[in-house]
Amino acid sequence: MTRGIQPKGARITGIGHYLPERVLTNFDLEKMVDTSDEWIVTRSGIRERRIADESEAASDLALNAARRAIEDAGVAADELDLIIVSTVTPDMSLPATACLLQSRLGAKRAAGFDLSAACSGFVYGLTTGHALIAAGRAKKILIVGVEVLSRILDYEDRATCVLFGDGAGAVVLEEGPEGEGILGTFMQCDGSLGELLYVPGGGSRMPLDAQRIAERQQYVKMRGDGLFKYAVRAMVDAARSTLDEAGLQLSDIDYLIPHQANIRIIEGVRKRLKLAKEQVVVNIDRIGNTSSASIPIALSELRDGGTLHKGDLVMMVAFGGGLTWGAVLARY
Ligand SMILES: CC(C)(COP(=O)(O)OP(=O)(O)OC[C@H]1O[C@@H](n2cnc3c(N)ncnc32)[C@H](O)[C@@H]1OP(=O)(O)O)[C@@H](O)C(=O)NCCC(=O)NCCS
Repeated sequence: MTRGIQPKGARITGIGHYLPERVLTNFDLEKMVDTSDEWIVTRSGIRERRIADESEAASDLALNAARRAIEDAGVAADELDLIIVSTVTPDMSLPATACLLQSRLGAKRAAGFDLSAACSGFVYGLTTGHALIAAGRAKKILIVGVEVLSRILDYEDRATCVLFGDGAGAVVLEEGPEGEGILGTFMQCDGSLGELLYVPGGGSRMPLDAQRIAERQQYVKMRGDGLFKYAVRAMVDAARSTLDEAGLQLSDIDYLIPHQANIRIIEGVRKRLKLAKEQVVVNIDRIGNTSSASIPIALSELRDGGTLHKGDLVMMVAFGGGLTWGAVLARY
């Protein structure tokens, strides 16, 4: 504490999510690429995923999730100081999806920016929001994880198109007493491993033209086995760092909300953190990997299920392209 500035706490006061209606099952995918329900379920745990309607972009999904989170918090849109949208599938590269959302919500006083940290984006967003509230720079922040990954998936590439889906989740983070709400945060990246999961075309390195589109450079490329190797260790390390920061133990955790990339990765993390199956939120079977939307959707479903109680200690931990990884430990 310096110059009389008191660090503030930040609490999650509202939660909401939105899933597009259309369901794409493994059996649907069997008709599109050389795959099988059996392969997808045993390798990843996924049975179906949601796919946005052609008319729906990221800001549409985000708007639905954000309205639910704001209503849940009992906050008016014009009370928000900041909107952070985590996405790798923005409506367009300019303006930020956060600005589109600000306008549609009527969040007249809010600043807004997008954050790009792939599947770790929501955890990065919560960490950023917490830091701004702790520093006294904001009191009420909307944080949204949203992805329309179906727009950047190659539905001729069986190694990727079966894994991902679309959706949005949102929370409202508000100033509160220090020592409540978010108790520990951790973020890290290793860009030397960026080519394990990337989209080559469409940025300033490789603008799209007819030839590059024909080469399918606009789509996600992934080396799944390479990612798998790092995922469990990185998530466990991130989780442990937040516990150390908070001065808490593994046995204090009530719920683990891991990024939903693969049921085998989730199981690996669960075992190393010595948690029971009932403590781990899993929805990958119904929703697939929705990148930065996965943790807030899972948090929202946990709350809607009625088993999340005030005072429960929740560990949110993610891993994704970049590579990026991180965790947030919060008392609900
Ligand atoms: C992708 C993943 C499910 C594959 O599981 P895996 O156990 O590594 O796969 P296996 O080694 O058993 O199988 C690979 C084989 O399956 C094939 N295959 C890939 N996708 C397939 C599909 N949808 N259907 C059938 N076969 C498929 C591959 O071509 C490969 O065949 P080959 O051995 O003849 O070359 C797994 O590596 C994974 O989840 N990795 C992490 C991915 C991830 O989390 N990405 C997002 C990060 S946030």
